[in-house]
Amino acid sequence: MPLPHETPRTVLAIPGSLRRGSYNRSLLEAGAACAPAGMRIHVYDELARIPLFDEDLERETAGGPEEVRRLRSQVAEADALWIATPEYNQSVPGVLKNAIDWLSRPAPQEVLAGKPVAIIGVTQGRWGTRLAQSHLRHVLSATESLVLPRPTLFVREAERLFDGEGRLSDEATRDALRGFLEAFAGWVDLVGGKKLPVLR
Ligand SMILES: Cc1cc2nc3c(=O)[nH]c(=O)nc-3n(C[C@H](O)[C@H](O)[C@H](O)COP(=O)(O)O)c2cc1C
Repeated sequence: MPLPHETPRTVLAIPGSLRRGSYNRSLLEAGAACAPAGMRIHVYDELARIPLFDEDLERETAGGPEEVRRLRSQVAEADALWIATPEYNQSVPGVLKNAIDWLSRPAPQEVLAGKPVAIIGVTQGRWGTRLAQSHLRHVLSATESLVLPRPTLFVREAERLFDGEGRLSDEATRDALRGFLEAFAGWVDLVGGKKLPVLR
C-alpha cells in the first residue's frame, strides 16, 4: 500500500557489521530493492569510518569529527532509521553501539530522540539475533527513539538464504521483508515527523 504522502518517506538503513560479505547489509539491500511505494531506503556504508566514541574528541571537535557529523546529519534528514544488527556474543556489535553513542549526543543534537526506528537482524546460527535485537531495543529506549514494536524479523541460518554472491535468494524471506516494511511505513506515518520533547 502506498503511503498517503506525495513526498517519499526517506529511510537511512544502517548495517551493524563491517564485514565485506555482511548478511545484514545484504538484507537491507534486499529490503531497499522491494520497499513499498512511497518509501525510499538508502543503505549507509561508512560505519567503518566512525571513530571510537570519546568525550574528549567530542568536546574538542564540538560534537564529533566530520564522519560523525555526516552520519548525524543523514540521520537528522531521514524520516526514519532501519537497523540490521548481527549478534556478537549475545549482544549488539561494538561498532553499532559506538555509532549510537555518538548519535545520542551532544545536546541539543540528539538526532535519535523521537526518530522512528525499525530493527531486524540475520545470523548464521539458529537464533536469528533475538538477544542482539532485544539489547538494541533497550539501548534505543535510552535514546528515546520510537522503535517499531511489531512485527519482529529474526532471520536465521543465513547460508541457506543467500546466494554465492551474498544476495538474498530466499523468496519467503523477501516476502517477510516486504510485510515488515509495509508495517514500518505505517509506523513512520503514525509516529514520524513529530517534534517530541527530549526528556531530561
Ligand atoms: C565475535 C562474534 C561473536 C558472535 N556471537 C554470536 C552470537 O552470540 N549469536 C549468534 O547467533 N551469532 C554469533 N556470531 C555469528 C554472527 O552472527 C554471524 O557471523 C553473522 O553472519 C554476522 O553478521 P554479518 O554477516 O552481517 O557480518 C558471532 C560472530 C562473531 C564474529
